[in-house]
This record gives sequence, structure tokens and C-alpha cells, in this order.
Amino acid sequence: MSLAHDLEALAIDIAREAGDLARARRDVGVAIAATKSALADIVTEADREVEALIRSRLKAARPDDGFLGEETGAESGVSGITWVVDPIDGTVNYAYGIPTYAISIAAVRGEPTPESWETLAGAVHNPMTGEMFHAAKDEGAWLGDQRLAVSTDVGGAGALIGTGFGYDPSTHAGDLALVERVMPIARDLRRAGAASLDLASVAAGRLDAYYERGLQPWDLAAGSLLVTEAGGRFGRAKPDGSRRAPLVVAACPAVFDELAAIAGLA
Ligand code: IPD
Ligand code: CA
Repeated sequence: MSLAHDLEALAIDIAREAGDLARARRDVGVAIAATKSALADIVTEADREVEALIRSRLKAARPDDGFLGEETGAESGVSGITWVVDPIDGTVNYAYGIPTYAISIAAVRGEPTPESWETLAGAVHNPMTGEMFHAAKDEGAWLGDQRLAVSTDVGGAGALIGTGFGYDPSTHAGDLALVERVMPIARDLRRAGAASLDLASVAAGRLDAYYERGLQPWDLAAGSLLVTEAGGRFGRAKPDGSRRAPLVVAACPAVFDELAAIAGLA
């Protein structure tokens, strides 16, 4: 068994337990605990509770590893491995009762920033559908025990493209201008509301491509590995010094170059 495979197995186990907790909390009702970067950027008590569970399980299993979570921040480790965790990706869907949210857990090697890390393993779990997407470096991407592959032929109608919009209202005009530039190559657009599941959808061939500006490391850590292990391409622009996180593009090879050029991926 490789290290990546062991990390993948651990991510799967913990994501399943965390998904059960998120779902149980949702069943008894969700309270918004606070707003974060913008009024639309919310955190629920469940986000915090689920992250605490994941963090404690990882600490018990691999005490030397580092941790980077959306709700509780970063802690360095000594093993060279860091766990990058979004306890509930798609929190707005979660709060509204839309069954499109996920637990995203990844193990990365190196500095825990997307510019320099190497993702070794990841799991993205939607507790409402029961789907468990998972991948280990060089060992493929899977939905349960079914191997995933990105779409191969997009056809004349164009690509089915997912995207998302950040919480900061000042960025919406730029996002909408980009939608206008992307539409000529799209058969249609989807805005599902959970970046990790958008990336899993590219890996599974349910979307031909996905792009978004403003994703945080925990939104993309596991999902980007799903895409590349399923034969897709993943690119992230270099940070430009602005407050906003850079654009990411994930796509099947047939669409990647054209979408990356339209989106201005440097
Ligand atoms: C958000 C979702 C959403 C994306 C946002 C993310 P959160 O994550 O992934 O689809 O458009 O950029 O911040 O806040 O629900 O964990
Ligand atoms: Ca989240």
C-alpha cells in the first residue's frame, strides 16, 4: 500500500463520519452562526462542529500532520503532510436545504498553499446522495468503486460548463462579463453551489469544464486531484496581489485550452 492510498482511505472514513454528522444536524434545523468575508458568506454551527470532528479524527490518526481548515485555520505539522479541509462546501445550499453540499478532505505535501503543494489524496462526499468521490495520486479517481474519466467528445453544441460567483458583491460585474465571453463555447452553464462537487462533476464527465474566481485552498484541494486523476486538466492563475484568490479552470482536454484562453488564465 502506498502512502497516498493510506491517506485516501483515511480521508474517505472521516468524510463519511463527518457527512453523517452534517446530515443529522441539517435534519434538526440549521442556524446561521455568523457572517464572514461578506454578508452572503455564512457559517453555521454545523460547519464548526463538523470541522472539529474532522480535526480531532485526523489528530488521533496522524498526530504529526499539519491542518488547514476553513473554519479553524492552520496548524503546522512535522511530517510534511497537511490536511486541507472544507467541513461543509456549499454552506448556502446547506442552509437553504438544497441537497448539494459536500465534505472535502485532502492530504497535501509541501507548503500548504495551492501554488506549491502536491496533492496526494482526497475525498469529496455528498452525504445527501451518498456519493463518495476519492482519489490518490497516480492511482486514479473513483466514485465508490467505479473509476472516473473526464468527458472526451464535446460535440457541436458546445461544452456544459459549471461556474460559481464569489460572495463579494464588488466582484460580480467581472464574473458576469466573463460569463458573456464563455457563452459562445457553452451549450449551457450550471451554478451548483459547491466548488468541490463542481470539480468532482468534471472528473465524472457530468460537466465538460468548470471555472471560478475566488476559490480558497479548501474549496479546490481534493477536487483538483479528482480532475487530474480522471484525465482532466486543472489550472490556477498566479496570484496577482489582489485580495481575491485567482481564477481556476478545470476541464476535459478537449475544452481546457479554449476556456483557459477565454478566461485569461495566465
Ligand atoms: C463556496 C462554494 C461555492 C463557491 C464559493 C465557495 P463554501 O464554498 O464552493 O460554490 O462559489 O466560491 O466559497 O463557502 O460553501 O464553503
Ligand atoms: Ca465551507
